Amino acid sequence: MTAVLHRLRVPRHRSTTAHLCSAYPFLAEGGLGSAGAYLGTNVLTGGGGFAYDPFEAYRSGLVTNPNVLFAGEPGTGKSATAKCLIYRTCGVFGRWVAIADPKGEYLPLADALGLSVVKLHPGGSSRINPLDPGPAGAADGPDEIGRRQAALVAALLGSVLHRDLTPVEDAVLGWSTLHLARATVNADPPTLADLAAVMADPTDDMARRARTSAADLARSVDAALYGLGKLLDRSLRGMFDGPTNVGVDWSGPGLVLDLSAVHHEREALTLVMLATTAWLQALLARPDGPPRMQVLDEAWSLLAEERTSRYLQSCWKLGRSYGVANVAIVHRLSDLRSQADDGTATAKVSMGLLADTQTRVLFRQSSDQLDDARSLLGLTSTEALVLGRLCRGRALWKVGGHTAIVQHGIGRSERFCDTDARMAS
Ligand SMILES: Nc1ncnc2c1ncn2[C@@H]1O[C@H](COP(=O)(O)OP(=O)(O)OP(=O)(O)O)[C@@H](O)[C@H]1O
Ligand SMILES: [Mg+2]
Repeated sequence: MTAVLHRLRVPRHRSTTAHLCSAYPFLAEGGLGSAGAYLGTNVLTGGGGFAYDPFEAYRSGLVTNPNVLFAGEPGTGKSATAKCLIYRTCGVFGRWVAIADPKGEYLPLADALGLSVVKLHPGGSSRINPLDPGPAGAADGPDEIGRRQAALVAALLGSVLHRDLTPVEDAVLGWSTLHLARATVNADPPTLADLAAVMADPTDDMARRARTSAADLARSVDAALYGLGKLLDRSLRGMFDGPTNVGVDWSGPGLVLDLSAVHHEREALTLVMLATTAWLQALLARPDGPPRMQVLDEAWSLLAEERTSRYLQSCWKLGRSYGVANVAIVHRLSDLRSQADDGTATAKVSMGLLADTQTRVLFRQSSDQLDDARSLLGLTSTEALVLGRLCRGRALWKVGGHTAIVQHGIGRSERFCDTDARMAS
């Protein structure tokens, strides 16, 4: 029998190298692999499937931290993609998720997934104590707990007072949290009300260290006490002023904190997001249990000021050591340039935050944001061009050094993604 060779014959084609390179097959992105939850199709691989999970990406060495940033204009599909990621990774991989939800739009997802919901509102019945040290924090010892509590309260007060604390305020705050942390070892954690009481009536030891009388020392922190009053007895009364009375079910898939009651008050929202983030961070930092995700929707409210951004960054740094992936959702990339006191944009804090966020999911940005996209995220000019033209539900994914353009798919049963119901009715 003679073998017949059927040679592939293609017509001769002549082209310039400039054009021919676009047809070179080996230039196509290889994709990120199949580990993780299926999210849609990668148009850079000719429509191949795209799967992602922050912990799988970390494990396989694609990224060196598990944090994720979603950015894009309103209505482009950031929350919908985050919800699908949560729904699928919690459902399939058993992740535990805690969501700070400023718009109250995660309640349908909570229903679908069986997440507990806590509604926090002024004068309401649910309360969280942002000074809770959490399960792992308690093991760190009182001095470290006191230091962390002082950092949180300094950020809260800075946000109320619109300035950094004076050296005296800073010292009294630090001595007070340390005093309370040492006094409450093996007892219930102190509350913001306890802190205000100590700052209003400093101990003799604090007065001695400040080389003044206790009464004069108390007078010099009047403004800080006024700032704490905002959380204790004025506009946010009842939300953060006592011991936590919210139970956490670790056997379930997670928790949604509904903050929609303060969504329309910008200054209040920043304080509430900060206090909530601190509480969640302490809650999630535990040595055991499933991998956890902390989702901050509308995170621009924390990034608007340098002080709050810096606090957020310090929380994120801790995340990796406790197996927590932080997910932040913002609108414009310029949100990442937090405002310094003189009103000038400073990229320093956001650069640190970005360095700790190696998965960036970029939805359409308006043309005035494209320069920021290039400089903050190191995009190529082609990527920046693509960013300005993405349609709803499609995003440029940068996962470590890998790039994908993903068209996200929403399943028929994933109705919890729909935030247009009111527009459509
Ligand atoms: N991939 C997609 N396919 C179909 N519809 C989508 C897709 N992504 C988002 N949508 C729809 O678009 C609408 C807006 O999406 P989403 O709420 O996620 O926007 P967003 O970017 O979070 O907006 P905002 O910044 O205002 O919060 C929703 O009703 C959602 O169901
Ligand atoms: Mg949204």
